[in-house]
Amino acid sequence: MQKQSDKIVTILGGTGFLGRHVVAKLASSGALVKVATRVPEKVYKLKVSGKISQIVPVACDYTDEESVLAAIHGSDMVVNCVGILFEKGKKQTFQKVHVELPALLAKACAQEGIKRFVHISALGCSAGISRYARSKLEGEKVVISSYPKATIIRPGVMFGADDNFFNMFAEVARCVPFLPLIGGGKTRLQPVFVGNVAAAVVKVFDSAPDKYRGNIYQLGGPEVMSFKEVYAFIEKYTMRERKLFNVSFKLAKYLAWFMEFAPRPILTRDQVNSLKTDSVVLEGSPGFRFFDIIPKSAHLVVPGYLERFYEGGALSRARITSTG
Ligand SMILES: NC(=O)c1ccc[n+]([C@@H]2O[C@H](COP(=O)([O-])OP(=O)(O)OC[C@H]3O[C@@H](n4cnc5c(N)ncnc54)[C@H](OP(=O)(O)O)[C@@H]3O)[C@@H](O)[C@H]2O)c1
Repeated sequence: MQKQSDKIVTILGGTGFLGRHVVAKLASSGALVKVATRVPEKVYKLKVSGKISQIVPVACDYTDEESVLAAIHGSDMVVNCVGILFEKGKKQTFQKVHVELPALLAKACAQEGIKRFVHISALGCSAGISRYARSKLEGEKVVISSYPKATIIRPGVMFGADDNFFNMFAEVARCVPFLPLIGGGKTRLQPVFVGNVAAAVVKVFDSAPDKYRGNIYQLGGPEVMSFKEVYAFIEKYTMRERKLFNVSFKLAKYLAWFMEFAPRPILTRDQVNSLKTDSVVLEGSPGFRFFDIIPKSAHLVVPGYLERFYEGGALSRARITSTG
């Protein structure tokens, strides 16, 4: 029987937030991890997560069939963690990144006879009306049409020390005395710990090839929070009280139009549309229990890294006084 240490996993998007966690866990599991990337230099700092030569960068052009085929050649498993939050110009479009790349990759996996293919989608994409959500759903469809036995994972908004969610709102709250409640802040989210999502991906690697094939898993954490509750959560753990004010979807879109001129906009019109539908696990759908994983509470993980947003820093007087 083939040992785990003889197995090769190729991951696209391994340099990203989720991907970095998947790479580290796969390396601990014994796999040889090829990180297919547009920028091989980004992989160097991941190498410390594995043994010498265990984590290998592979230059890959995500738009080129030959390049993708060469990257995944000989792999026992392929993982696609590539994704974007906003479109920019003609190259960075949801269609290219969330539909065309998965289509090309799924076809390549089928052609190469890859046994396990994990594709990362997004929670709430089936009901979402944003271009982001619709492209994620379309991505799932094109994957299934070429590789029906793919394992599709739909994570909720992910948190972890280096996240772009709680950290981003805490940073905004640090800079301004008020925070907008878009559409009244009623949109419900189900934040999930990035380490738990990465662990689910690795379970696919560690299990029999058939176990997770041909299914869609919705992965959300134990708490469902409205956006208003997200702000209250951040306020609690940064001890920065901020005034909240309602912003209609219409006005938010108008403001987002201006923000879209920034190289990395913190809000886009499409993201405003994302806020019109909830992003929570649908009752009865396959999820963490299929992986024997108990998802971590945000209350256990997030306070540890939001500490730095305390007035005066993590060791501030305010914190010491309030926690007694
Ligand atoms: N973060 C969340 O809260 C969240 C929630 C739900 C679903 N998801 C999905 O989960 C997956 C991983 O999310 P993440 O937050 O880890 O993603 P990420 O860090 O933002 O990006 C993942 C990777 O995508 C590649 N990428 C970035 N911009 C690109 C572009 N313009 N064209 C082509 N490739 C590009 C990069 O890989 P290289 O530079 O190495 O090529 C990057 O490392 C994505 O599919 C995302 O849609 C994320």
